[in-house]
Amino acid sequence: MDNTRDSIARWMDGIPYEVAFWNNTYRWTASFNRLKRWSHYGSPIQLEGFDAQAFLASKTGNPKVLDVGCGMSYATGNYLLADGKPHPLDIHYVDPLADSFNRILARHHREMPRIEFGMIEFLSAFYPAHDVSLVIVQNALDHSARPLKGICECLEVLETGGCLYLKHHPNEAETEHYKGFHQYNICEEGTDLVIWNKQERHNVTALLNGFASVATSRTEDGEVVAVIKKLRDVPPAFITDKADKHDLCRMVQLQIADTGNVRRAFKNKLAYWKYNLIQCAMQRLSWHTRMKIKRLIKQH
Ligand SMILES: C[S@@+](CC[C@H](N)C(=O)[O-])C[C@H]1O[C@@H](n2cnc3c(N)ncnc32)[C@H](O)[C@@H]1O
Repeated sequence: MDNTRDSIARWMDGIPYEVAFWNNTYRWTASFNRLKRWSHYGSPIQLEGFDAQAFLASKTGNPKVLDVGCGMSYATGNYLLADGKPHPLDIHYVDPLADSFNRILARHHREMPRIEFGMIEFLSAFYPAHDVSLVIVQNALDHSARPLKGICECLEVLETGGCLYLKHHPNEAETEHYKGFHQYNICEEGTDLVIWNKQERHNVTALLNGFASVATSRTEDGEVVAVIKKLRDVPPAFITDKADKHDLCRMVQLQIADTGNVRRAFKNKLAYWKYNLIQCAMQRLSWHTRMKIKRLIKQH
């Protein structure tokens, strides 16, 4: 299997777990309320290690914000304080699993904003260039099949002076043993942002030098934050339309092969129902019990 095909196939294998997790978080009122208490939905925007409020308030008009790889957490807050009053933010929730997530909202009758379809590696195909002030990506870049391309695509849709905010658990793929969506590790080396796995290692700070600046820090919980500021246009060599077409054709071909292969189609359905059952039970447990179980699983 070539590398691209391999990473896309593994990415597609991660879908059943993700959908089952959110389906069961939204199914139960207790877990849905727990999520709402934890998220900043309904409050002013809040990002750890970055004053998003001050940054957006410095922009004229109603700045556009994208929460890419949003899942169903609505984590960031959707208001901006101006003249001491909260104003609704022009925030768009974007995820490749948007169709499944919107079905979950409808199925469980939850009144939350609908999610827009988009993939970080191809973001400029979904949103016009130079149109966005802030792109937020939390615990999602390391889930994508091509994270470096994802960063360049986020920079492409940003206006000059716009910011890409990244927040991720350090070296998550290592912790999760490269299972499901977890294919890349994100960490800092000194002050540089680095993305790596067993096959590749990229110094993002060095790669973006000349058109974007990178400032890294850690949150109180030890998560890696990177604020990447667009200084000038992304060089055309970084927006690789031909490679995109190649990847997209691979995806279509894998999907067709999956649908035509009864054993594989059955395995995918089975994976979804297995995770759905596990998550159905897990979401009924207390947060502490779930964390204990998760820690035990991670050790094995
Ligand atoms: C762990 S969830 C994070 C959700 C949310 N950002 C948060 O922090 O609570 C990871 C999300 O990344 C999304 N994702 C996976 N691959 C992606 C890609 N290529 N582009 C954008 N999002 C992706 C998944 O569908 C999933 O919803």
